[in-house]
Amino acid sequence: MAVGPPRDSGGMTTWAITELGPHDRQAVADAGSLADAVLGRGMFTVEQVLEDLRDGALLFLAAYAGKPPVPVGVAAARVLDDDGYRDLTAPMPPGTLPATPPSAGGRRIGRLSSLAVTAPMRGRGLGSALTAHRTRWLRERCTEAYTISWLHNRQGRSEGLLRALGRQPVTILHDYWLQATTTGDLSCLQCGRPCHCPGLLLRLPITGGRTASGLGAGR
Ligand SMILES: CC(C)(COP(=O)(O)OP(=O)(O)OC[C@H]1O[C@@H](n2cnc3c(N)ncnc32)[C@H](O)[C@@H]1OP(=O)(O)O)[C@@H](O)C(=O)NCCC(=O)NCCS
Repeated sequence: MAVGPPRDSGGMTTWAITELGPHDRQAVADAGSLADAVLGRGMFTVEQVLEDLRDGALLFLAAYAGKPPVPVGVAAARVLDDDGYRDLTAPMPPGTLPATPPSAGGRRIGRLSSLAVTAPMRGRGLGSALTAHRTRWLRERCTEAYTISWLHNRQGRSEGLLRALGRQPVTILHDYWLQATTTGDLSCLQCGRPCHCPGLLLRLPITGGRTASGLGAGR
């Protein structure tokens, strides 16, 4: 489903942001290739994305530009179930976030992940537009949400746009991706395997968000 009109940045660029669905296998695969090229290998598998889209716990956005349109951006957000929350918190020092699983505390916890824009399209507001879309989606479903901004040394970091869109820094996480890039499938574009990049944990506070009784569980 295409959402919102394509945006015209001073006549230079137009893009369209599309919410992919469980039947968009080829579009998910193309967006996955873009994410791998910009973020590193192993961000997600097509089968897992399609399954999560069927569950309704995942928002998966692709942005297209040009004629014919080609993918220029990808971004995801999800509502975490207890396993997803454990995956989020496991690489953090104990006490960084509450250990209580969301189902026990009546919390609905969201997470932003996998934000990537192709280099020629950067600095025109597309990353912000993808994140504003994800923020609206999370606000409708969650009581709080987290993001880990990858503090790499390459050009184009997400910290600025995330802060501008209401995220509050919690702490810097050292070696957050170490295990995922040692025994797991991930490979960092900056370090390869293992990854020693720091990550900035940011929190989106949501007042009046949905409670656990409002929605089914999802990852
Ligand atoms: C992070 C990333 C997705 C941002 O995408 P983007 O489309 O360039 O994002 P935006 O254009 O919305 O914002 C980028 C910067 O351009 C600025 N900007 C936005 N629109 C602008 C415009 N019309 N004119 C000038 N500057 C603009 C923003 O204020 C922001 O500045 P800041 O970083 O100093 O805060 C992109 O750089 C990227 O793919 N990086 C590599 C992968 C990565 O690190 N992903 C994040 C993982 S956590």
